[in-house]
Amino acid sequence: MEYNKFEEIVSQAEVLPAVLQVEAHPYYQQHQLKEKISKYGTKLEAWYPLGHGDKTLIEQPIFQELSDKYKKSKVQIILRWHIQDGNIVFPGANKPEHIKENLDIYDFQLTDKEMQEIGKIDCGKRYYYLESDNAAKTYLGMKLDFDAQP
Ligand SMILES: NC(=O)c1ccc[n+]([C@@H]2O[C@H](COP(=O)([O-])OP(=O)(O)OC[C@H]3O[C@@H](n4cnc5c(N)ncnc54)[C@H](OP(=O)(O)O)[C@@H]3O)[C@@H](O)[C@H]2O)c1
Repeated sequence: MEYNKFEEIVSQAEVLPAVLQVEAHPYYQQHQLKEKISKYGTKLEAWYPLGHGDKTLIEQPIFQELSDKYKKSKVQIILRWHIQDGNIVFPGANKPEHIKENLDIYDFQLTDKEMQEIGKIDCGKRYYYLESDNAAKTYLGMKLDFDAQP
């Protein structure tokens, strides 16, 4: 979401948004947006936190290096980076072994230097683009029937 759209919402909101869910991963780290929304107390919730599972992202050498050091998987290193970077993170995972692994990230800590090294692979690469403003209007108009869900 562009920041001006967020400002449009907060200018009319009676309750400020606690979270803003937007695409965020090591290739698209969103530091400027996070700084701007922080003045409203809004936290960033990472969408596509693993870059939609993109191997070129997960196979970046820095993640292999840290995986070897901490005896954690490369995905666990990425998720740990999210947490330490202040993001709220819900990775998508269908495989039970992935879900289990993704919860096991709270017994190690990346150093400031390692966080900075991961910071360097931010290249502004996104995986998702909203097709048009019309698509945005469609999403805004959606009324989901949660009561009908099993
Ligand atoms: N707000 C909402 O209502 C809502 C609803 C649904 C989804 N979402 C968000 O939408 C996004 C869904 O996109 P996405 O699932 O493509 O994003 P993603 O979390 O960036 O990537 C998920 C991919 O990473 C793989 N993966 C997960 N854990 C792994 C592990 N430990 N090792 C190796 N690969 C692993 C998954 O494989 P497997 O599937 O094979 O495990 C899947 O292919 C998520 O950010 C989710 O939070 C939001």
